[in-house]
Amino acid sequence: MTKPLYQSLPKAELHMHIEGSFEPELMFEIAARNGINLPYKSITDLKNLYDFNNLQEFLDIYYQGVSVLQTEQDFYDLTWAYLLRAQADHIVHTEIFFDPQSHTDRGIDFDTVINGLYRALMDGESQLGISFGIIACFLRHLPEQAAFDIYPDIVRHKDKIIGIGLDSSELGHPPEKYQRIFAQAKKDGFKLVAHAGEEGPADYIWQAINLLEVDRIDHGNRCLDDAELVKTIVAKNLALTVCPLSNLKLKVVADLKNHPVRTMLQQGIRVTINSDDPAYFGGYLNENFARLQTAIGLSDEEIKQLIHNSFTASFLPPDLIQKHLTRLQSSGHN
Ligand code: ADE
Ligand code: ZN
Repeated sequence: MTKPLYQSLPKAELHMHIEGSFEPELMFEIAARNGINLPYKSITDLKNLYDFNNLQEFLDIYYQGVSVLQTEQDFYDLTWAYLLRAQADHIVHTEIFFDPQSHTDRGIDFDTVINGLYRALMDGESQLGISFGIIACFLRHLPEQAAFDIYPDIVRHKDKIIGIGLDSSELGHPPEKYQRIFAQAKKDGFKLVAHAGEEGPADYIWQAINLLEVDRIDHGNRCLDDAELVKTIVAKNLALTVCPLSNLKLKVVADLKNHPVRTMLQQGIRVTINSDDPAYFGGYLNENFARLQTAIGLSDEEIKQLIHNSFTASFLPPDLIQKHLTRLQSSGHN
C-alpha cells in the first residue's frame, strides 16, 4: 500500500510546545528518578484526565506534568522523545515552544532548561537531519513584569533562541498587556508570535497584529468571525499555525468535520497544520493530517499547499526555505 501523501512528504512543524509532548510513560519515569510523587496512581489514571472542556482545564494538568522536570537530562530526554516522533512523521524542520517561567518559577535554573533542549535539538540536527528553531513563550496569565524579569535570560541565550511567543490562559489576558515587552524583543531582533483567537475573540488577533507586530499568529481560528481581519491577514500574508486535534480536544471546534482549515485556505490565508501539545491531544503531526483527511477529505492539492506553507511560514533563512521547496517539488508532489 502506498503511504498517504502527508506521510511521504517532508514537512515543517511550527507550533509545538515541548512540555506538551511529555508522554505519561516518560513523565512517570522522570518523576520516579527524581523522587517525585505524581498525584495519579497510574498512567491510566492520568490518561483518564485527558478529557478537557476548555483550555484552562488542559493547562491545569499540563503545568502539573511540567513540575517533574528538574535536570538538564530531563529536558534533553523530553526533547529527544519528541524528535524521534518528528522523524517518524517525516518532519525535517521544527520550531518548538517552551515556557521558561513554568520552570524558573519552581526554582529550576533557566540554563538547565535551555541547555537540555538545545543539546537534544543539536543532536537531532546532526543525527536525524531535523533543523530547528526555539521560541521562548511568556505565560500571559502572569503580569507583564514577570516577562520583563525573565527576558534577560532569554537575551543571554540569543544564540539559541530565535523568537518570542505568548501562551497560556488567553481569555482575560489580551495581547495589549504585553505590548512593551514585545516592542523590546522586536528591537532586539527576535521573531515574534502570539497565541490569539484560540478561545479569545477576533479582537485579540487584531491586537497581536497591530500592537505586538507579530510575524505569525498561533491558532487564529476566530479570525473568520471578522471579514476585515481576514482581508488584513491575507494582505499581510500572515501565517496561521492551526492545530486541529488541539481544537477538537479543547472544544474550540465541536467536531473535526466543522474544522475551519478548508475555509481558511479558500480565503487565501497562509495556514499550516501543527500538533500543539501532542501527548495530550491524541497525536503528532501526521495524526493531525490523518484525522483531518478522514473528517473533511483533504485533497492532495490542499495537503501540498499546507505543507508548502509550513516551509514558507518558517523562520528559516530564504535560501533554506527555497531548498526545502525544491525538495518538495523534486519528490514529484508539487
Ligand atoms: N500552552 C500549551 N498549549 C497551549 C495552548 N494550546 N494554548 C495556550 N497555551 C498553551
Ligand atoms: Zn499552542
